[in-house]
Amino acid sequence: MPLVGLTHVALERWLHQVSTMLIVRTLSDLRAACATLRTQHGGLGFVPTMGALHDGHRALVRAAVASGVPAVASIFVNPLQFNATEDLSRYPRDEAGDLAALEACGCSLVWLPDVETMYPPGEATTIALTGPAERWEGDARPGHFRGVATVCAKLFGQVRPDRAYFGEKDWQQLQVVTRMVADLLLPLEIVGIETVREPDGLALSSRNRFLSPEGRASAPVLNRVLRDTALSLASGAPTEPALNAARGRLTEAGFAVDYFALVDGPTLAPIDCPDPTARLIATARLGTVRLLDNVPAQ
Ligand code: PAF
Repeated sequence: MPLVGLTHVALERWLHQVSTMLIVRTLSDLRAACATLRTQHGGLGFVPTMGALHDGHRALVRAAVASGVPAVASIFVNPLQFNATEDLSRYPRDEAGDLAALEACGCSLVWLPDVETMYPPGEATTIALTGPAERWEGDARPGHFRGVATVCAKLFGQVRPDRAYFGEKDWQQLQVVTRMVADLLLPLEIVGIETVREPDGLALSSRNRFLSPEGRASAPVLNRVLRDTALSLASGAPTEPALNAARGRLTEAGFAVDYFALVDGPTLAPIDCPDPTARLIATARLGTVRLLDNVPAQ
């Protein structure tokens, strides 16, 4: 059973039940719990989430646990990263299921802030981004990365982890957060974890549940086309025709392609030929569901 809240008695009990996960909902409880864990174990790993957890999130928590320090996870559906055309209320929520999943993979502490704690009345500060936040998702979802970066900076300040874990599936997000941490000289390391996939190659995502049965059947084509394109680029095929052929295959399979591009991995700038950091990135829609995926291009 997870412990909820942090009275002195609860803190004492928690300290003596190492496998018990603590759930905190106030900043003072979070700070007390993080300080205790840090003193006892010499560090913290952190997995920020918006809930609706799947095996991709579990892999992040397991990586944090495997690093030898306690894992802290947050669940906060961040309004600032949704724009006016995106329905925040439609975002899947399953707090009980998420807490059970986190406890099962060895998470020590879960932070469940409310909107007022994350965005206090009168707040006037957000993070402005250029570089890897430009283009792609930055164009498709104006303001999205400002919201992601701002909430991550706040969460990092609250938890003060040594490392924070992000999935490679959201490649651009991973690069935006990595760049922000470097630019703001924040004292933590960002660790990218390989995308977890269904057996047919579909990248796990909380959006997959919205696919129709026909959409679910077509969805793995996105990863297949990315992998095939990476292979043809590696065997010397010219880039632009290979990218056009990929877009054509996706359109034939019923996708509306937002972008399919070869980019420099860290900066997300488009490039003409693959190099060791290059990434093929793609976003394509099946009905109303936007699927994102990416693979190394070499
Ligand atoms: O990837 C997500 O779930 C979110 O963008 C994150 C990093 C938790 C920030 O709200």
